[in-house]
Amino acid sequence: MRILITGSKGQLGNEIRVLAKGYPDFDFLYTDIDELDITDQLKVDEFFICNMPQVIINCAAYTAVDKAESDEATAHLINATAVENLSKSATKIGALMIHVSTDYVFDGNSYLPYCETDETNPQSAYGRTKLAGEEAVRQYANKAIIIRTSWLYSAFGNNFVKTMIKYGKERKELKVVYDQVGTPTYARDLAKAILDIIPSALQHSGTDLFHYSNEGVASWYDFARTVIAFSGISCDIKPILTKDYPLPAHRPCFSVLNKSKIKEKYNIEIPYWSDSVKDCIQRL
Ligand SMILES: NC(=O)c1ccc[n+]([C@@H]2O[C@H](COP(=O)([O-])OP(=O)(O)OC[C@H]3O[C@@H](n4cnc5c(N)ncnc54)[C@H](OP(=O)(O)O)[C@@H]3O)[C@@H](O)[C@H]2O)c1
Repeated sequence: MRILITGSKGQLGNEIRVLAKGYPDFDFLYTDIDELDITDQLKVDEFFICNMPQVIINCAAYTAVDKAESDEATAHLINATAVENLSKSATKIGALMIHVSTDYVFDGNSYLPYCETDETNPQSAYGRTKLAGEEAVRQYANKAIIIRTSWLYSAFGNNFVKTMIKYGKERKELKVVYDQVGTPTYARDLAKAILDIIPSALQHSGTDLFHYSNEGVASWYDFARTVIAFSGISCDIKPILTKDYPLPAHRPCFSVLNKSKIKEKYNIEIPYWSDSVKDCIQRL
């Protein structure tokens, strides 16, 4: 089975590469912007017809949340228009589209883990463009799965885990917000879940939406303390409020995702968040 990975040089794409040898029945085709710029509809169409993937895992995205506030047009082009391109081309060749979205489609005013049926209300440019991407999948893909995830980190690229380790080594003290609560997600766990559900997902038609993060709940402060402790670094982590660390993009103060649907439908087990943080740090 041929599986096309777009944006394969990012966190999720790279973790799929690492896991690929455990899936000998899958023939992976890795692309990033240099091989396949997903904003170019003609190129996408041509590539799909030439290579005929049965599954597309879209790992490509504009993920610079704060930068998106001043460049929403580019974020929209990559997170929405390009997703429309992929969805249309996937439909033409009868392929399954697996698209990744975000907890930032929610406003964060809930106090219960968000279900797939809960109302969306993005508060940032990034969140708006990702929601537009979900809508493009629903409108243009015949066979698709959308998976919303949160607080992604991995052994690759820049992410919170690596930033905490870097600054933790350089400084005696770090201030981290404790009034934003969610769940860190190890891109390797998400990558495995995606690859594991493919055979069943191929049987399905229409578009289905799922939530996936690691298990448990944490604030960024808890996350930072765990990273520092597992890294054996001596650095004091101080809790602060979001208002004392202003950033261009608004972040949901609560974005825990309810994962019952994906667990029940595909019978998958999800690791606890700090167990996965430990695994990632051991690989760094
Ligand atoms: N990171 C998070 O905390 C987080 C949280 C929730 C959901 N998500 C979602 O999870 C998915 C994976 O995120 P990630 O952190 O793995 O992303 P990432 O590390 O930023 O990787 C995205 C990849 O897409 C590439 N790309 C950008 N524009 C492209 C284009 N026009 N054509 C082809 N490739 C292009 C990027 O290249 P450049 O690096 O050169 O731009 C990069 O290699 C995304 O859908 C993201 O929205 C992420």
